[in-house]
Amino acid sequence: MNGKYETHEHDVLIIGAGGAGLRAAIEALTQGARVAVVCKSLLGKAHTVMAEGGIAAAMANVDQADNWRVHFRDTMRGGKLLNNWRMAQIHAQEASDRVRELEQWGALFDRTEDGRILQRAFGGHTFKRLCHVGDRTGLEMIRTLQDRGVQMGFDVYMECAVTRLLKDGERIAGAFAYWRENGRFVVFKAKSVVLATGGIGKAWPITSNSWEYTGDGMALAYEAGADLMDMEFVQFHPTGMVWPPGVQGILVTEAVRGEGGTLRNRSGERFMERYDPRKMELSTRDVVARAIYTEVKEGRGTEHGGAFLDISHKPPEYVKRKLPSMYHQFLELADVDITKGPMEVGPTCHYMMGGVKVEAETAAASVAGLFAAGEAAAGLHGSNRLGGNSLSDLLVFGRIAGLAATEHAKKTAMPTIDAGQVEAAEREMLAPFERKGGESPYTVHADLQDTMQKLVGIFRTEDDLRSAMTQIAKLKERSQRLAVSGSRMFNPGWHLSRDLQAMLTVSEAVTRSALARRESRGAHSRIDYPNLDAAWGKQHNLIANRSGNMELRQTPVIDMPEELKLLVAEEKGAA
Ligand code: FUM
Repeated sequence: MNGKYETHEHDVLIIGAGGAGLRAAIEALTQGARVAVVCKSLLGKAHTVMAEGGIAAAMANVDQADNWRVHFRDTMRGGKLLNNWRMAQIHAQEASDRVRELEQWGALFDRTEDGRILQRAFGGHTFKRLCHVGDRTGLEMIRTLQDRGVQMGFDVYMECAVTRLLKDGERIAGAFAYWRENGRFVVFKAKSVVLATGGIGKAWPITSNSWEYTGDGMALAYEAGADLMDMEFVQFHPTGMVWPPGVQGILVTEAVRGEGGTLRNRSGERFMERYDPRKMELSTRDVVARAIYTEVKEGRGTEHGGAFLDISHKPPEYVKRKLPSMYHQFLELADVDITKGPMEVGPTCHYMMGGVKVEAETAAASVAGLFAAGEAAAGLHGSNRLGGNSLSDLLVFGRIAGLAATEHAKKTAMPTIDAGQVEAAEREMLAPFERKGGESPYTVHADLQDTMQKLVGIFRTEDDLRSAMTQIAKLKERSQRLAVSGSRMFNPGWHLSRDLQAMLTVSEAVTRSALARRESRGAHSRIDYPNLDAAWGKQHNLIANRSGNMELRQTPVIDMPEELKLLVAEEKGAA
């Protein structure tokens, strides 16, 4: 490449600077690796902050009967047993240590009267399990990890977007990227790469995700030959803002329900009685999201197409102390004082349970030298994630990925990168400037979002999914004609043209997998196949790139040891 490109060399390259990326970086540094974190946004601006209500860990500070086994059981039942059981076990066993470690690194938490970390209730968790600081837990976690990592000394490349993973034969060799500010290209050489890029919410128009979440890590892994798993499982958080239109989708934390908030329809009926009379508002997210969607669809929704969520029966000071962000969010964005009246809420695309297929013990993907953690990785949450399990996932598997990536780097020589790959990555990025009068990336993105919202949403059917496949194929064709004008200096249309390729890949993977899975399980609801199917309960969907064609195949769910089967026995009939 002869000095044509700005080039950096590291043992471990981490793509993404949310909770998983930062925790991986800290671990890799601790193990003595030369570490870089590259992120397409600013350091600290990550979807992690949208997990507001807490970190799930069986610390038993409030409910003494809690322990890792109950947490494991809740996670497996929440995921309808499609989880990688070993990941769920490691997660439940290690989450408490990771929280204590975070506390030692300076994270602030709300406290019990005797000074322990306070824990609150969340949907699907048997006990009060979510360690929290008001409704800003994700933010506090990012702040703490960022301080710690920066102090330890990793290199940070901010506002730098990775567009291709580079390989040396069959193993990972680094990444090709560009600076968003000036459009100049960068080559990262690395022995190990950790994908910690989060989810894919921007493929839907109503989402809690911000602009960064375009499925980059999953698309990068797919292009590099790694398997993706269980891509049909997309979580719609039951409570996003619905009004005014400009703020639609912004998250309303589950902590509102955890602190006693109730859901009602336009007639004042507490409708969760009809959907899950036992757990009510603290049912799992898939159930609550479907309930709100159904109420609205059947004409019982609020004026703006949502449900009422009310916490105003609690003392105003309590609400302001436990839910300060929600208080300000509604006051400032919707002119609603939540201490006096209800919020209007509806489902918002929030989280991806599917992602890069990884090994439980190492977070290793199916390509040598590639690792994935957090939302970019599949397995832990099965078909539906419990609230709060995302933050503990980031800590537990971020650490594991950082450790394993360093171990891999220690036994590996620095790879070589051939110029051809880099030049192809550059040509691909420059192509939209060379086309005249082609498609606008904004129009194609809007059409993709419309397709995903209407046809690959909370409820799915064979007909809708087939139409979505046809639409996505057309959008892919149009994406080959994307044209952008202007220069490479901060050019949002150009950035979107790249992000769109990732969104299209991932949207196709979601739709293809959803079409194949002829049952309803967790977040995947097929109107035409409304029940769990025992055979599908034993299969994961895998997506792989075979010479440019997306191939779908199935792989068996890994069998659980007998003692763990007994723990989750209640769900046996479902599996
Ligand atoms: O509702 C929330 O606070 C989100 C938490 C999560 O997604 O884990």
